[in-house]
Amino acid sequence: MSPIITIDGPTGSGKSTVSRLLAKRLNYPYLDTGAMYRVVGLAIQRAGIGLKNEKEIAKICNSLDIKFIHEGDTNKIYMGNDDVTEAIREPVIDLMASNVSALDTVRKVMVKLQRKIGSKGLLVAEGRDMGTVVFPEAKHKFYLDASSDVRVKRRFQERQKKGESISREKVKEYLIKRDYQDMNRRLSPLKPAKDAKIIDTTKLNPDQVVEKIIKEMAKDNN
Ligand code: DC
Repeated sequence: MSPIITIDGPTGSGKSTVSRLLAKRLNYPYLDTGAMYRVVGLAIQRAGIGLKNEKEIAKICNSLDIKFIHEGDTNKIYMGNDDVTEAIREPVIDLMASNVSALDTVRKVMVKLQRKIGSKGLLVAEGRDMGTVVFPEAKHKFYLDASSDVRVKRRFQERQKKGESISREKVKEYLIKRDYQDMNRRLSPLKPAKDAKIIDTTKLNPDQVVEKIIKEMAKDNN
């Protein structure tokens, strides 16, 4: 079994914050696979290519140079020499990333890359299909979830913090749409792996979730 920890779940379940904290606590590298699909979405959007143009999309995916640069507590993401850390978090890229992630060509290239990164050993891998498809042999698998009200609230507060003027209603509409797409697509839909531990984060803060994960991992090791 590989010493990889997989953390999957829907938008606003807390998986990014928790994965980052957990990786820091264990001193493991952290892989944000959502960011990878976001970079693809951004590249396709910038190139002005339609989602049906699989040939061009394949070309873009195969030539993409995605780099994660960890500097202290900040994780920066580069597309070639371009720092796209902020650009990939724009609301318009939320849906674009979800759209491109449903394409076979895109998933093939990304999964290959993710497995290559995972082959180095220890890793906290965060996404939608980490436990089900990318690292099915991972020793520790978690699926985080929370009530939709709380997930919307978390997303809304995140947007407000960034100074974006978006209504709670719109945040809710986009969140429901994206979750629906991610859960109902043909390829690698979002769902818990059969052997994943499900953690409801509705009433927990990120540190409490990390504690729970560490406790569960200790059980796995016994
Ligand atoms: O985690 P995120 O919001 O940054 O992910 C953006 C989109 O990427 C998400 O809506 C679906 C897709 N995604 C995926 O299909 N598989 C993953 N492992 C991670 C993300």
